[in-house]
Amino acid sequence: MNARTLHCGSVMHCLGNPASGGRLERFEKGALLVSADGYVEAVGPEEALLPGLDAEVVRHDGHVIVPGFIDCHVHFPQLDIIASFGEQLMDWLDRYAYPGEMRLADIEYARELADLFVDALLAYGTTSALVFATVHPHSAEVLFEAALEKDLRLIAGKVLMDRGAPEALLDTPESAYADSRALIERWHGRGRLGYAITPRFALTSSEAQLEQAGRLAAEYPDVWMHTHLAENDREIEAVTKAFPWSSSYLDVYDRYGLVRERSMFAHCLHLSDAERRRMAESGSAAAFCPSSNLFLGSGLYDLERMREAGVRTGLATDVGGGTCLSMLRTMGDAYKVLQLNGQVLAPAEALYLATLGAAEALGVDAHVGNFVPGKEADFVILDPAATRLSAHRDMHTTSLDERLFVLTTLGDDRHVAATAIKGTLHSQA
Ligand code: GUN
Ligand code: ZN
Repeated sequence: MNARTLHCGSVMHCLGNPASGGRLERFEKGALLVSADGYVEAVGPEEALLPGLDAEVVRHDGHVIVPGFIDCHVHFPQLDIIASFGEQLMDWLDRYAYPGEMRLADIEYARELADLFVDALLAYGTTSALVFATVHPHSAEVLFEAALEKDLRLIAGKVLMDRGAPEALLDTPESAYADSRALIERWHGRGRLGYAITPRFALTSSEAQLEQAGRLAAEYPDVWMHTHLAENDREIEAVTKAFPWSSSYLDVYDRYGLVRERSMFAHCLHLSDAERRRMAESGSAAAFCPSSNLFLGSGLYDLERMREAGVRTGLATDVGGGTCLSMLRTMGDAYKVLQLNGQVLAPAEALYLATLGAAEALGVDAHVGNFVPGKEADFVILDPAATRLSAHRDMHTTSLDERLFVLTTLGDDRHVAATAIKGTLHSQA
């Protein structure tokens, strides 16, 4: 594998946010040139790149090549309880999520699940992700091991929770600090891995623990901070009661130094203008989780207002609150959520939210998110004709954007012909 490789097919990638004038570059008969060590060398029309080129040529005729998808918020332990019936957030946590997460006390079980999760990400075309583990430090450990083996760009952390959940899932402020610190020292910056300080949400951390999380955030400014924010009405009411001194939900995290660059807040459905302003000025970002927000009946994300306020948004599955690891399907769900909110998500912007926009939200856009030369060559080969129905529908499309839109509405892992991690193709069976 010493040669450069030219992947030929239709190519689409974002050079900026199409909703604010950024360009979606499209090449009907395009090509992506990847260096022997897995970086993008060039992208453009095949006829401009191919002649006289010294490279191995791989043809993906009829397929669409897009950047690897980036899932900004997902829980790997919740593969056990994905698709659980009948509850909204607070009851769903008690009835399904917490009991499921207890099983990961067994490290061998956690390892099996981590392997399943990493393989599933690849099968769905996801090459980067920000991931919740469980409270058990070894759950982060086995996830990092699995991701390192496949060279995924993965950011994760052990969950901090010292109250408001079953005893078996609780840590302490001191163990949360010490265990997170040890994991940061061992994993952050290794290969393409990064660490995220991960307080579950305000209701499951004491103020003493939030203080320890803030201490870590100050000691390790280039480590991520990852939590939930303003998802559900009952949750928000409980936060107001638990932190009577706070002026808002975001203010709880802010008090402890957790609202900063590299902070990712999942959901952000019920925010005030002041909270949006604070997120923007602090450089923190939001994960838009449409499937989860529909499934748990949490609410509708306001993409337009977040954009106007200057808050970066990345798209996320939030499995197991979300019901599918597919970022294609999540783009389709985002379209539907925004329809309910009187907003229209163009296919170009959906692709942006799942690739470059997500990379920008996570602060990893120097490495991934599009095909700018020098970036890591993570990409997905999409097959619009993977099913009989989608093949039929694809015949009636008249543009690449329409083909992409159909894929986000009808597509899933069957439409991922292969996923490339730094130029190495992992084909689906
Ligand atoms: N808030 C606190 N924990 C969770 C979780 O596991 N899933 C979701 N969707 N929201 C949460
Ligand atoms: Zn979540």
